[in-house]
Amino acid sequence: MVSYHIREYCPGDYETVRDLFATGMSEYVPTLCLHMLKQPWVILILGCTFSLLLTSSKSLLLPILAITLLLAVGRQLLGYIWSMYIDHCLQKDLLDIQATYLGSKGSCFWVAEADECVVATVGARPSEEQPDELMLKRMSVRKDYRGFGIAKALCKTVIAFAREHGYSSVVLNTLMVQHEARAMYEGVGFRKYHHYILPTVYGRLANCTISKYRYDVPSTE
Ligand SMILES: CC(C)(COP(=O)(O)OP(=O)(O)OC[C@H]1O[C@@H](n2cnc3c(N)ncnc32)[C@H](O)[C@@H]1OP(=O)(O)O)[C@@H](O)C(=O)NCCC(=O)NCCS
Repeated sequence: MVSYHIREYCPGDYETVRDLFATGMSEYVPTLCLHMLKQPWVILILGCTFSLLLTSSKSLLLPILAITLLLAVGRQLLGYIWSMYIDHCLQKDLLDIQATYLGSKGSCFWVAEADECVVATVGARPSEEQPDELMLKRMSVRKDYRGFGIAKALCKTVIAFAREHGYSSVVLNTLMVQHEARAMYEGVGFRKYHHYILPTVYGRLANCTISKYRYDVPSTE
């Protein structure tokens, strides 16, 4: 077991928090690549390229080289698109964490500290669609501190905050590749209530499914 405590974010945590988020998200590149390799149009392109080159060159070497090259380019491209998404988040709510999350009573940002270091983060602010719902965001736990219940404890901190501030529920979004996170949220009591494919060109091409989870905060009456 590891001993940790959860506290509110302070400005000195800025770089660590951004780094924890970016590192946690960049871990998904290999899983995203596997997800892409399962898409029918990708299998079709790879299969057709292989067959065409095999019939035209009558050698295995050229098609194998071409497929290897395509996979390497695809991996780089996906890594680049994903890093653009991470940068986008870093330039949004994580650019000025203090102002975004600690500027009003209805939102907050927490970190978990262990061994005198910040090892996990989570934020919460009102949902843009439903102001009576609290949106949980930016959950990330440093790799060597996972499996100790820190993420679950952060979820419970957010739920307690929601109850204290009169929110009806806590909601969050996950991507199709975030299996560990989904299992963790379900373990805390969140339930999936909606899922959809990201309505952008990249989203449709990658069959990028967003699942929305909700935890209904029991009324205190
Ligand atoms: C998802 C994440 C936050 C979990 O953090 P954690 O501190 O290890 O989680 P906890 O120890 O509190 O919870 C463990 C639960 O998560 C789930 N879980 C964690 N790792 C898992 C794994 N490798 N496989 C399956 N389930 C897993 C299980 O339900 C587990 O419950 P159990 O211990 O009762 O089996 C962490 O893996 C992470 O930071 N990932 C990268 C960033 C990310 O995906 N954030 C979520 C954005 S929506």
